[in-house]
Amino acid sequence: MQTTTIDMNLAAVEEAILGGTTARRNDTVIARGEGCWLFDTNGRRYLDLTSAQGVTMLGHCHPALSKAIAEQAQTLISCPNFLYNDVRARFAAKLTEVLPPHLSHVFLANSGAEAIDGALKFARLATGRTLAIAFRSAFHGRTVGAVSLTWEKKYREPFQPLLDVTHLPYNNLAAVEEALDESVGAVFLEIVQGEGGVNIGDGNFLRGVERLCRERGALLVIDEIQTGFGRTGRWFGFEHHGLAPDMICLAKGLGAGFPMGAIAYTDRVQDSLYPGAHGSTFGGNPLASAAGLAAIETYQADGLIERSAVMGDHFLRRLREELADVVLVRDIRGIGLMLAVELRQKAGSYLRALMEEQGVLALPAGPNVIRFLPPLTITEDEVGIGVQALRTVLQQ
Ligand SMILES: Cc1ncc(COP(=O)(O)O)c(C=O)c1O
Repeated sequence: MQTTTIDMNLAAVEEAILGGTTARRNDTVIARGEGCWLFDTNGRRYLDLTSAQGVTMLGHCHPALSKAIAEQAQTLISCPNFLYNDVRARFAAKLTEVLPPHLSHVFLANSGAEAIDGALKFARLATGRTLAIAFRSAFHGRTVGAVSLTWEKKYREPFQPLLDVTHLPYNNLAAVEEALDESVGAVFLEIVQGEGGVNIGDGNFLRGVERLCRERGALLVIDEIQTGFGRTGRWFGFEHHGLAPDMICLAKGLGAGFPMGAIAYTDRVQDSLYPGAHGSTFGGNPLASAAGLAAIETYQADGLIERSAVMGDHFLRRLREELADVVLVRDIRGIGLMLAVELRQKAGSYLRALMEEQGVLALPAGPNVIRFLPPLTITEDEVGIGVQALRTVLQQ
């Protein structure tokens, strides 16, 4: 009884102070996480198949990540940006170890949108062109630069005028062929559109966009913020198609829960930069670098990228088996541990039932899609719990 009162008070406090831009449930206060599970202040547990918006790739509070953060917090949290730092150097070297060799330079930031904004600036410097191409249903974040690239009108329109961006239909190469002329500095592309509905990019389209960028002097910027670090069963989504982007934007899995972002880019981009072209007070501070280093070391040591491919296939197969006779389901798709069940109706009430009745957390992706972005550490038992819970709510 007492705990419930505390819950309600904490939810009300958060709502009153932080409620301006984010809609949260006012009946649940999460207190702790472990592996794929979250626990509220009443002790109820939830299977978190969202990885907290695609972030906690190692599960909640993975011991290696927590230890690295705790130790670094007692050693050095911030370092003057004009001095070198050993942890930042080791993190940078480790990150380039998992990037393709042509992306040998990195800018360290704090979030996905900040990485996207930096890439917009870098593309202008490298090409001298200001126009960008992005795609319908794309999501690239909500800072002024990033939201200019994002498709959804409700995020974009109240803030016009924004940057000069042409939005083209996704998976439609003819549209790119027509629009990509000498005024375009960069094409921003997701390999799988996450927020937009888990729309999987067609290989011919993605390779065609790369070819057109090369022919017409535009930079190909791949947004790997959601798809990076094993989410699709490879380190990065572009590896599925043998692409060689000029820049990639990273966040989410980069720190596996620690807030970080990054841009990785080529010599050509590097040659156009100069001290002061861009900057960030917190980007790559020692605490973030220690977290990023521990995250990548753990992906490698525990074989989690390969595991994502295997568990993703298993999850997709189980969804297809268990939901085969559910008429409400229009489509089931996925790549690695980025999975979607598209419904013939709006997904909101089913997502609510999943949480309230089954204790399972999933995400929307557009109005009709239920999206799963579980930690790469998810077990077969946990996949089974999630799939059965979904079957139950969809059959009610
Ligand atoms: C593909 C993609 N790009 C950019 C972003 C923005 O990242 P952030 O919320 O860290 O600014 C997101 C966040 O969901 C994303 O999924």
